[in-house]
This record gives sequence, structure tokens and C-alpha cells, in this order.
Amino acid sequence: MNKEKPIIAVCGKGGVGKTVLTALLSRVLIDEGHYPLLLLDADPAGGLYAAVGQRPEKTLASVREDLINHSRSANDSTKDRLAHELDYMVMAALLEFPRYSLLAMGRPKEKGCFCPANTLLREAIDLLAEPFAVVLIDAEAGLEQIQRQVTRRVTRVLAVSDGSSRSVETIGLIADLVGRARLSVVMNRGMVLNQSQLPSGVEITGVIPENAVLREFDRQGRPLWELPPDNPVWTATRNIVKKLFPKRRTQPAAKGSKKRTVNR
Ligand SMILES: Nc1ncnc2c1ncn2[C@@H]1O[C@H](COP(=O)(O)OP(=O)(O)OP(=O)(O)O)[C@@H](O)[C@H]1O
Ligand SMILES: [Mg+2]
Repeated sequence: MNKEKPIIAVCGKGGVGKTVLTALLSRVLIDEGHYPLLLLDADPAGGLYAAVGQRPEKTLASVREDLINHSRSANDSTKDRLAHELDYMVMAALLEFPRYSLLAMGRPKEKGCFCPANTLLREAIDLLAEPFAVVLIDAEAGLEQIQRQVTRRVTRVLAVSDGSSRSVETIGLIADLVGRARLSVVMNRGMVLNQSQLPSGVEITGVIPENAVLREFDRQGRPLWELPPDNPVWTATRNIVKKLFPKRRTQPAAKGSKKRTVNR
């Protein structure tokens, strides 16, 4: 089941631009026909919803907590039933639109352990991925989520780097965890690395330029999906999508147009 369904996780050190990239990619994927798209906000701190112009009403963690609180006062048979209510939890937290659905993991209350978050993410993927053309995950900063349970299901990890040495270090760690074959690097804010700075066998899939308009949108909490169509970050994102989905033709070139001799 789902053998080759694209399940893409956007990972990297904190603050490198994971949420920005996820928001840009999701818009371009939908516009280019890669839908229905499942967008998973796996960062407990959230942020993806605002970037695409939505507000999460419920998160998987909050629905789960409600269920657990309910079950405290329930009798044993109800508890049993509630324990198997993951479907319900996922459905109650899922925000659905014709071309995409959103699900936020939220922040599980258990202290000092991210296991529940990872378990929830894994289960959400298993339960939900099937009818979607693509699954795109805005992962939590660092490496917690790209542990085995989750990564086994991910077909591509996009590691974002802002060129800082810490972000490059993180890419090295991610490469060790997920293997190089499934890893691509996206440089953000116009930074580019030498191939020698990257783990061997890992390639740079694209570069998102530093963009003052984007930064200002983000600062004001304006959805990045509303960035003007001529903003250069859209071209940069389309180039990344072309690399991720090389076989798919986007719009056919107009007759006589030579525009599609695109960078490889
Ligand atoms: N290409 C860019 N041009 C201008 N500003 C950018 C760009 N990319 C990201 N930023 C800004 O950098 C900050 C961090 O970006 P973002 O929130 O996407 O990072 P993140 O990796 O998701 O962070 P976190 O680890 O906290 O979730 C934001 O203020 C965002 O507006
Ligand atoms: Mg983020």
C-alpha cells in the first residue's frame, strides 16, 4: 500500500525556513495539479496554518487530551472504546478543503518525552495518507521527528539550510539518519554551499532567495500564499517542484515560446 506515494518532510535546524518552504511548496504543488495535498504541521509550536492562511481549531494532541480526560470518568468498556478512537481524533482535528487538508499535531502534554508526538505523526500518516496525491510535513526543528518510525514512511526529506554551520551540521545528522538517497537540500535566503560542505551524495535541489516582502508578510502574520505571483520566491519554488517531480509536465509552453529551457 502507498508504496510510492510522495511523502515529503521538510526538516532542519530551528529557524532556517522550514515553515516558509512548506508553505511555498504547498501552494505550488496545488497550483500544478499535485492534489489533493495533505499538509501536516508537525511542529508543536505551529506556524504552518498561519502561513497558508488558516487557523487550527483543534490539534491532534488536543483532541487526544479531550478523549483521555473524558475517559477518566468513563467506565471500563467506554475506556476500551476510547482507546481505539484514533480515527475519530484524526478526523476531528483534520481541516478539509477541496484541494488540500491540514492537520496540526499540536503539543502533547507528557513532559520530557516526544514519543507521543512521534507516535501521533506516524499514525496520522498511516491513517490519512492513502487518498492524497502528496503528503507534505512541516517537521519540528532538529532531529526528534526524523526518528525511524516516522522516516520509514517518508519518501523524501528536504533539509533546509540557511548556510550557517549549525544548519549544515544538522544536515549531516539528518543524512546519517535517513540515508542520502532520500535526502535533498534546499538553501534558503539565497545562501549556497559548496558541494564540499555537504555530505557526499547529497545534492542541492534549489535555492530560495532572501526576500524582504516575504519577511514582512511573515512578520505581520499575513499568509504567504498571498504573496504576489511575480515574487521571485515562486519561481524558485517551482524549480524545486520540477526537481522533485521531474516527469510531470506543468503547463505546456506557448507555441513559439522558448521559455522552457529551464535550469537543471
Ligand atoms: N527566504 C526568506 N526571505 C526572508 N525571510 C525569510 C526567508 N525564509 C525565512 N525567513 C524568515 O525567517 C524566519 C524563520 O523562518 P521559518 O519560520 O520558516 O523557519 P522555521 O525553520 O520554520 O523555524 P522553526 O524551527 O522555529 O519552526 C521567519 O521570520 C521568516 O519570515
Ligand atoms: Mg517552523
